[in-house]
Order: sequence, then structure tokens, then C-alpha cells
Amino acid sequence: MYDGDIELGRNDECWCGSGKKYKKCHLGFDERLQKLAEAGEDVPPRALLKTPEDIAGVKKSAKVNVGVLDYVAERIGIGTTTEQINGWVHDYTVQHGAIPAPLDYEGFPKSVCTSVNDVVCHGIPSPQEVLASGDIVNVDCSTILDGYYSDSSRMFCIGDVPEEARRLVEVTKESIQVGLEQVKPWGHLGDVGAAINAFAKEHGYSVVREFGGHGIGLDFHEEPFVSFVSRPGTGWLLVPGLMFTIEPMINMGKHRIDMSDPNGWTVRTKDGLPTAQWEVQLVVTEDGYELISW
Ligand code: MF3
Ligand code: CO
Repeated sequence: MYDGDIELGRNDECWCGSGKKYKKCHLGFDERLQKLAEAGEDVPPRALLKTPEDIAGVKKSAKVNVGVLDYVAERIGIGTTTEQINGWVHDYTVQHGAIPAPLDYEGFPKSVCTSVNDVVCHGIPSPQEVLASGDIVNVDCSTILDGYYSDSSRMFCIGDVPEEARRLVEVTKESIQVGLEQVKPWGHLGDVGAAINAFAKEHGYSVVREFGGHGIGLDFHEEPFVSFVSRPGTGWLLVPGLMFTIEPMINMGKHRIDMSDPNGWTVRTKDGLPTAQWEVQLVVTEDGYELISW
């Protein structure tokens, strides 16, 4: 097959777990992928395409993931420390039988990333960091339930946020919708990032290049890397069953970032101007996409 998997017999049980014969289930689908691969398209390996059982598992995980962010939304405000957010995320997640994916992930010391103002991503919660009126903060939650991964993030505006920063937060949120509109089965992943980049530029903003979205489901970060400065018509084919995140980091100023923080994690804008990020997780379907987490 196109991805080197063992070919199934027409009467064997389909790989997707439907219990149907291969010829009555995904044989035609696989033949289509084979042809597209031969035509030079970047076809995702079949092992990364989620089966209905996988999708059901990830949805349960996402229920906790969305619940965590709703829980944070009800409590966050002036005077909240990012350490408190970490506590809420940790306790809510564990109380719902799940595991916060960031904790101990490649040495990350906390259960959530909290990125304030000029922090692009991977901010580490701290009891010394107190949210004040005018701050914008991204809370990025990732959840493991029964081995299934979910990942989403939101921005929160604390107290009285200057119009300029509020607008950055709003435009970044709208950019998610702009990206989602490009998710069409048998389209190209590059269309998503191209649309987001164009939208950000129209508003005078710039998009971070070094970090992006990712495949997800049975692992935290699966292939593909999802760039938000990609070219239309390029990249992986958007095959039904492909699951990934859209999570652009949009800067008010220039796109350059500073990764020199000695903690090895916190990423900042080089020019010190604010930055925003929202993240959703989706799966490509036969007729579009389904949102999994937001
Ligand atoms: N949640 C981030 C993402 O969207 C990853 C954070 S990795 C961590 O992909 F270790 F910092 F948590
Ligand atoms: Co992510």
C-alpha cells in the first residue's frame, strides 16, 4: 500500500475496526490514496488516520479538556497567580480521571502553559506571577484520558485591556475560523496556514514561524507539523481521519521570537510587543471537519 502497510485481502476485516469486509469498507478509500500518492501528493500514513474508535476515545478526553478551560474561565481575573491556574488545571484534570499532558513532558515542570502579554508560548506558571488589569494571557491545556490526547487553548483578557491588545486577541480568535474554513477533505494542509497568515497580515500583524500545530490523538505531538505561514496547495493531503490542531501565535509587531530564557521553555516576542494564541483540535471528515476540542 501507499504507506507500506501489509495489503489486506478483499474479504479480510477492514483495518478501521468497523467489522466489515475490507472490500465493503475502506478498499476504495485506500485505492484512492494509493493513486494520489503515485501522483506525487503527500499522503498521510494510514497509521495516523483515526478510526471511529480512536475518535470516540479522543472525544472523551476532550470533554475533560474543554471542561478544564471552562473551569479556568469561571475563576480567572485580577489578582489570580498563574500558579493558581496550574492548581485548578491539575486538580480538575485529575479529579476527572485524566492526566495533564504537560506535566513532566520533556521536563516541563507544571500541568499547564500560561503565557502572559509578550510570552508567545510555554510560559511556566509561578506563584510570583500575579495577573493585573490590562494583561492578556493564554492558558494552554492538554489532557490525556485512557491514552487519548486532547489539546486546546484560549486567551483571557484581565480587567481593562487596552483596545490594541483586545483587538489582537479578537483577530487571533477569528483567524482560527479563517483556518477552519480551509479544512476540506482532499484539500491541502498548506491552505490552512496560508489563509491564517494572509488574514494576520491584513490586520498588520505577523505570525510566529518556529512553532505551530501538530497531529494529535494517540500521542501528544504526532506528525504533521502544522505551519501557519505555509503556501496554498502544499503539504499533506487532508484525508478523512486526519486529526490535528490549529493554534497560530500572532504577534502585534514583528514575527521574531526570543528563546533565550534560561528556563529553557518560555518563548517571548523579540520586540517585546504582545502576542496572542488560540488553539482548537479537529478531525477531517468526509464532508469537512469536526471540532474535537476548543
Ligand atoms: N500545549 C502545547 C501545544 O499546543 C504544548 C506544550 S508542551 C509543554 O502543543 F510541555 F510545554 F507543555
Ligand atoms: Co497543541
